[in-house]
Amino acid sequence: MSSEMYMLYGGILLPRETHSSESLEFAQGFSFKDDDVLLVTYPKSGTVWMQEILPLVLNGGDLTSILTIPNWDRVPWLQGKRFAVIVDQLTSPRALVTHFPYNFMPPSLHTSKAKVIYVMRNPKDVMVSSYYFHQMAAFVEDPGTFDEFMDKFLEGRVLFGKWTDHLKSWKQSKLGDRIMYITYEEMFKDLPEGLRNISDFLGRNLSEETIQKITEHCSFNSMKANNMSNFSLLPKTLMDFDKSPFLRKGVAGDWKKHFSSEQLARFTSVIRKELEGESFSLPWSLD
Ligand code: A3P
Repeated sequence: MSSEMYMLYGGILLPRETHSSESLEFAQGFSFKDDDVLLVTYPKSGTVWMQEILPLVLNGGDLTSILTIPNWDRVPWLQGKRFAVIVDQLTSPRALVTHFPYNFMPPSLHTSKAKVIYVMRNPKDVMVSSYYFHQMAAFVEDPGTFDEFMDKFLEGRVLFGKWTDHLKSWKQSKLGDRIMYITYEEMFKDLPEGLRNISDFLGRNLSEETIQKITEHCSFNSMKANNMSNFSLLPKTLMDFDKSPFLRKGVAGDWKKHFSSEQLARFTSVIRKELEGESFSLPWSLD
């Protein structure tokens, strides 16, 4: 399926607003550098949070980039239209981001020593967050009812395909110790500890003072107040905050306020089935 709003690429749907055949070709031919860091997420898993965190970890807590550069240029989208325009302006070590599954990565990811951080979030909260995003963003389809959207989500008739396929692809990556997995929930529970783990993975030796500074500036409320991170620079015709803010609730477990017991059973059974026989287990209980 493709539509006016979406294009189909390698079997997954992408929004035309931010992708084009040229941008996809550019991404395929992109050369990663050894000191690049690639942030990978399925949509609504905490991407913009990491677009705040990563530059600060990489530059030792200097706030200039998060206060002066919008997140889409600060940690740009590998497959997006702006990438070719912006990438040469970045200083190394660069932080880049993608929602693509592993098998869509350009060959240079494998030949370079670039590191990857994969952020995952409880799929029930991902779905709830995505449902509101589809109401407020004009460049994605209306979600329909919550129940209808759940079917679409479970069947993968949503942007970037099935949540389970995305996770499986990156969990089975051949990147060895070049990939780190972290959950939204871990960061929500103890952000300083999450920052220490990210900093260790990236070979940064951040002082406790810097960790505390980054924690403060990456809190939900700080980001909500940061015009470079809260999408207030976009026109209302693209994102309508009267319908829902992008930085909406910022909590773990909001699904409990949205799922009926029937929906929970349906959701759990589909996800369990999709992950049957996989060598990894999920960091959250699905029930
Ligand atoms: P909610 O809609 O549940 O509030 P993405 O950036 O991948 O699109 O994910 C967006 C989700 O991450 C939204 O979830 C948003 O509120 C949440 N988020 C962004 N920054 C956050 C922060 N500093 N702390 C907690 N959650 C954050």
